[in-house]
Amino acid sequence: ILKAACVAAVASLPSVAFAACDEGEIVVKFSHVTNTDKHPKGIAAALLEKRINEEMDGKMCLEVFPNSTLYNDNKVLEAMLQGDVQLAAPSLSKFEKFTKQFRIFDLPFMFKNIEAVEAFQASDSGQAMLDSMQRRGLQGLAYWHNGMKQMSANKPLLLPTDANGLKFRVQSSDVLVAQMEAMGGSPQKMAFSEVYGALQQGVVDGQENTWSNIYGKKFFEVQDGITETDHGILDYLLVTSVDWLDGLPEDVREEFLTIVAEVTATRNAESTSVNLAARQSIIDAGGVVRTLSEDQREAWVTAMKPVWAQFAEDVGQENIDAAQSINA
Ligand code: LMR
Repeated sequence: ILKAACVAAVASLPSVAFAACDEGEIVVKFSHVTNTDKHPKGIAAALLEKRINEEMDGKMCLEVFPNSTLYNDNKVLEAMLQGDVQLAAPSLSKFEKFTKQFRIFDLPFMFKNIEAVEAFQASDSGQAMLDSMQRRGLQGLAYWHNGMKQMSANKPLLLPTDANGLKFRVQSSDVLVAQMEAMGGSPQKMAFSEVYGALQQGVVDGQENTWSNIYGKKFFEVQDGITETDHGILDYLLVTSVDWLDGLPEDVREEFLTIVAEVTATRNAESTSVNLAARQSIIDAGGVVRTLSEDQREAWVTAMKPVWAQFAEDVGQENIDAAQSINA
């Protein structure tokens, strides 16, 4: 009961609760691209903001800028390296300019569910990846979950061949480009903030995303339906700059990192329920959700899995093997 009450309280946080920072406080700008409520990242960012501002009052002051109001994901990491923003949580698909290691998370059907993703992230290989961009000035702080991806289009998708010839929006990841090409689709990389308009105007025919993103940005309104493929995962890296983190006084850094770890554990444990609620909200709002038979799902696996071989060298066969043994 207590847990449920907590979740309800967090979910109802005001969406524009920008803290007015006091003089002398270290100001932390956190830029992200999704909704603030009914969304795993939006809720986690709001909880982080609340806890930092309450518990580190006088020392640190966090302001969240959601919904791409400050930066798109393709600009935010450069802005971070320039010191214009201190925190971001882009999806793992959006780090290609900095590291190829995260490509493992984009490989279709690599992880069977978010628990498998979590176990891989907690492993030595997963934890080492947090430090993989230090040379480039970026420090991973934690993995934040969203969830499994679903496929949608302006026509019913039951078999991968239904995607033949359709244009799909993808995040800025070559793995996702290859995945859509494996289904005979034409992928187009595009910022998240542009997807609704592009679907509405027919610039693209379809897209893949989690329930919370499809609901939060109303993609279901401009699609024929959503097919429950669970074919991949969308997770985030809470990231900061090496210089900024190193520059914090040690006690402040410790307190900040402790709160980050606690918020991560609390909200990651709720990501699946947030996505399932979004799935239901889509149905309640009149959106169409299609489920697959065993055979249909197997056809998606057969069509997409050859993509692994194209990227095995980038991600390391040992990482693929580790992920697969977790799945087993
Ligand atoms: C997307 O671009 O589709 C997602 O990465 C957006 C997000 O942050 O969940």
